[in-house]
Amino acid sequence: MSSDIRDDTRAGFAELFGREPDGLWSAPGRVNLIGEHTDYNEGFVLPFAIDRRTVVAVGARDDRVVRVASTIADEVVEISLADLTPDVLQGWPAYPLGVVWALSEYGADLSAVPGLDLFIDSDVPLGAGLSSSAAIESAVALAVNDVWRLDLDRPTLARVGQRAENVAVGAPTGIMDQSASLLGRADHAVFLDCRSLDSELVPLGLAEAELAILVIDTGVKHSHATGGYGERRAACERGAAALGASSLRDVTVADLERARELLDDVTFRRVRHVVTENQRVLDTVEVLRSAGAAAIGELLDASHRSMRDDFEISVPELDLAVETAVQAGALGARMTGGGFGGAAIALVRLSDLSRVQVAVDNAFSEHGYGQPDTFVVVASDGATRN
Ligand code: GLA
Repeated sequence: MSSDIRDDTRAGFAELFGREPDGLWSAPGRVNLIGEHTDYNEGFVLPFAIDRRTVVAVGARDDRVVRVASTIADEVVEISLADLTPDVLQGWPAYPLGVVWALSEYGADLSAVPGLDLFIDSDVPLGAGLSSSAAIESAVALAVNDVWRLDLDRPTLARVGQRAENVAVGAPTGIMDQSASLLGRADHAVFLDCRSLDSELVPLGLAEAELAILVIDTGVKHSHATGGYGERRAACERGAAALGASSLRDVTVADLERARELLDDVTFRRVRHVVTENQRVLDTVEVLRSAGAAAIGELLDASHRSMRDDFEISVPELDLAVETAVQAGALGARMTGGGFGGAAIALVRLSDLSRVQVAVDNAFSEHGYGQPDTFVVVASDGATRN
């Protein structure tokens, strides 16, 4: 993160609210290395926090009012803590104010805490599948946890962010993004068991291996509050119930033969994606530890094929990005995040970076697609007080 964005956030707060903030907190976006649509199935994920962050400046007030402003929109939204319920929240303020509300479900007594002024700035691209929303939620959750002295631990703050997203924003998403944003560490991926919330940091060693993760943001916008994401989640729940499992976490690759006989074709393929993807996360962790990042390319490719053909959450722009990157020398590539748009990631040797970028740009032009935004991301530390 450049110090500019912190300076801008502090200055934005001071200009708008006419005083200095009590402090600045920040939280990163994430890319998911592997493990897609496994989190809400109580499975495994392997995301990492990236070097794009959301910063929030916070000042406590001596009344019960919360005011929130951001560089995203030209407005100050104001609400009394007495009126703060998820159903009154709309648009971008549902993310920060949803977190303030959700903290009340985890021990904050909204009738006893002071009001707040919040000013938010971010360099996480919006709608690119890099979890700009989890970055806001995690920064606000960590900040308000400190200001209100709630003493909640990071896995609990991840739950708070997820609750805001599920109830206040209305997107039925899992726990991965907030966990990555809160638990990330420089040069490591977060290996998370989404059932127990146990996590381990797995060294990536990309720089030493002269490798990089290239993000290819297709520019195709998606929303998980509508449509496909919720349908996929429902299909997974249907599949688990038909197989007598409480979640797909308990279905293994060996069970797939029986699943094929019991389930209709679409539900079977949804189930097969989740079951094989869980296995690919475990395999990726093992390969990273035994052979290093250069050896995980085939697992990334297999994950993309599974999302394209079985889970059907890719779009032509993502498929083109992935195919072109691999043809131009990437060791592996896959779409990342919820799908239906957003970004792909490619594992690329530093010496091949510009070749891959040029090839992707050319392929998008040839197909008449708008130019993608391509940039390297670096595994970075999670949310912090700045
Ligand atoms: C979105 C959700 C996550 C996860 C991914 C798919 O990013 O917010 O909880 O389900 O999609 O892996």
